[in-house]
Amino acid sequence: MLKHVMFLLVFHQCLADVHSLHRRCAATQGNSYPKNIQFLMVDDIMVYYYISAGKEPSIPKWLNHSEGIFLWGEIRRNLNYNRFIMDTAVRLTSERFNHSHDHIYQAHGRCDYKDEYISSAMSHAYDGKDFVSFDVESNTWVAAVPEAQFYKRKREDNIEDLHRLIHSYKYGCIDWLKKLLLFSQEERKEKVPDVVLIEKSSPGSSDTAVTCHVTGFYPRAVQVEWLNQEGHILDRVSSGEVLPNGDGTYQISRTLSVPDGARWSQIYRCQVVHSSVTGHITVEWEPNRSFFIPLIVGCSVFTGVSVLVLILYIKKISICSFAYMGPLRNINLNFGG
Ligand SMILES: *[C@@H]1O[C@H](CO)[C@@H](O)[C@H](O)[C@H]1NC(C)=O
Ligand SMILES: *[C@@H]1O[C@H](CO)[C@@H](O)[C@H](O)[C@H]1NC(C)=O
Repeated sequence: MLKHVMFLLVFHQCLADVHSLHRRCAATQGNSYPKNIQFLMVDDIMVYYYISAGKEPSIPKWLNHSEGIFLWGEIRRNLNYNRFIMDTAVRLTSERFNHSHDHIYQAHGRCDYKDEYISSAMSHAYDGKDFVSFDVESNTWVAAVPEAQFYKRKREDNIEDLHRLIHSYKYGCIDWLKKLLLFSQEERKEKVPDVVLIEKSSPGSSDTAVTCHVTGFYPRAVQVEWLNQEGHILDRVSSGEVLPNGDGTYQISRTLSVPDGARWSQIYRCQVVHSSVTGHITVEWEPNRSFFIPLIVGCSVFTGVSVLVLILYIKKISICSFAYMGPLRNINLNFGG
């Protein structure tokens, strides 16, 4: 139980305040459609989305004010230029491979921020495989395959381009991120999840399926577990994905399968940890009484583990950066191509 609480706590703190700007761009060669895709996101809020031959994207409502319009102009110019870089990259690379049919070149970049600059990264892939990346620490391009050497040299030989990139990844990205965070404050306001339990008998089985449905929350990161009376995490659980509700909030369901024999003897709890709530939300399922007791457990839960909390606080940064690697690894941003 203690270990469980610790995990939840770390999860809680990490996700509360790391912010990222992500950009993903793709260009295709051949007959495939579309030729260009670009998007720019601050956390999970879409800022700019372009798909070739479509309309030029229009400014998001939350950016439609004088300072925002100025930033939007910069974003548009930058992404416009990036299309040229991407088109060139896919053309040169497919020539290098003697490829003539449909091929795709992708660029991903990102930067992370939490009170101060944390890190930034950028990499390119050709046909879904690592091709080159830009090492922000050493300011050099790194070829992932021998065929990418020519591209590394081409980019490094262009001193102006290299300086533009260095500036983008050291300062530009964080500058945009800070401004976009400020302007999108209203969009990113935390929303508390609603938690309901739905009971259903499984056809062809004596088990009872109890679904913990968690909806209407923002941001996306959430932890939903089924616990037994002793507070142990249960594994007879099928887990859904976090899905967008379409109104900027998210939902997720986790279904516990209760064997017939355990039905009358156990109490089960669905526990939800989300940054909008201090502590966690717990909804209890008591099968023999067939009604649910929602209760919000506040900070008091943690008093018993305050020493651990302190240790964790000290270790927080390293734990957080580790915990954050996974989800961010493939959502990247390419500020300069
Ligand atoms: C931005 O605001 C102006 C006036 O305030 C309005 O006319 C325009 O339609 C808005 N644009 C978008 C994309 O919402
Ligand atoms: C592409 O074709 C040229 C000329 O035919 C050849 O020299 C080269 O090795 C080929 N490259 C690859 C990657 O196959």
